[in-house]
Amino acid sequence: MDWDRMIREELTGLVPYAPGLREDQVRARSGRDHILKLSSNEHPAGPFPAAIAAMERELLDLNRYPEGSAGALKEKLASKLGVRAEQVMIGNGSNELLRLLGEVVLRPGDEVVYPWPSFIVYPTVTTMFGAEHVRVPLLDGTDYDLDAMLAAVTARTRIVFLCNPNNPTGTIYTRDAFEHFLERLPDHVLLVLDEAYFEFATSGDYPDGLAYFDGDRGIVVLRTFSKIYSLAGLRVGYGIAPERLVHAIDCVREPFNVNSVAQAGALASLDDDAEVARRRAENQEQKTYLYSGFGRLGISWVPSEANFVWVKTERPTEVFEALLEEGVIVRAFGPTPALRVTVGTPEDTRRTIEAFETVVARLGSV
Ligand SMILES: Cc1ncc(COP(=O)(O)O)c(C=O)c1O
Repeated sequence: MDWDRMIREELTGLVPYAPGLREDQVRARSGRDHILKLSSNEHPAGPFPAAIAAMERELLDLNRYPEGSAGALKEKLASKLGVRAEQVMIGNGSNELLRLLGEVVLRPGDEVVYPWPSFIVYPTVTTMFGAEHVRVPLLDGTDYDLDAMLAAVTARTRIVFLCNPNNPTGTIYTRDAFEHFLERLPDHVLLVLDEAYFEFATSGDYPDGLAYFDGDRGIVVLRTFSKIYSLAGLRVGYGIAPERLVHAIDCVREPFNVNSVAQAGALASLDDDAEVARRRAENQEQKTYLYSGFGRLGISWVPSEANFVWVKTERPTEVFEALLEEGVIVRAFGPTPALRVTVGTPEDTRRTIEAFETVVARLGSV
């Protein structure tokens, strides 16, 4: 078989998603028992107790297919968010929804505008459907430049992705900047607001994307149960979108794309707003602890509205490797002069700073 002819040529150049190192890999390598995995922006605590109970109950019915439309979860999200159930879509992670959006709207030659650095799935989806990449660099590698994003929009632009707070920098665009942007964005463009870290944001200037959703304009808001709800392993995310778009996605998605345990766990998580608030506050406290530790060690960092911190370093590979020796896994992005560090429990953040302290002592600086 000539595989180059068989496999779609648009896919040339794509490489499989490279997840962060696993704890067992680093355990063997560092010789340490207790490994800190701070590389995937997961929440350090387990799922909510009510979610665990609901998932356990669901296990007994796994001989049955899931409820294909995830109706109960859609209804609950709709009433919580003040939209109609027909405007809610549920995915096998919000990741699946990103791909499905590409699948239903992108044609070869369309342009997709996205900030960079940002979430790796935006370029993947762009390539997957033969669209063209229009990357708009973050100012100084950290801050949104919505004017530049607007200037990058043409008659061929089909999708603009915005990630707020942005992964991997943790930075946000403000409400004023967003409103200025939105007023000028032509309405042939589908604006996808990826708010995977929405629940962690505490800034008064942070715009809630849903406030701009009217059911008609081409705006989609994506959120997930993988982060503050601690259900990353379950794979469930959701999107709010105009009904026509939800319907188009319903026509192409797998009939049972969200498994029944995931539906039960997500549904039961939605009743505990107090726990969400507690986790947000704890994340904030732990970020403050990290900032002061980094400051003491002469390390530059970027203030974050998410559950991770973008730490500046001129030698990311060396620092990444040295942290591994300390049993701490962070995320490196090739030669980009920064590392992304997920916020952990109070005990984790204390150990994070201790590990950086050792690395600074060993390398002289970070
Ligand atoms: C910005 C952003 N969007 C989407 C996702 C995908 O989340 P999930 O598929 O777990 O819902 C992630 C995961 O890390 C993310 O960082």
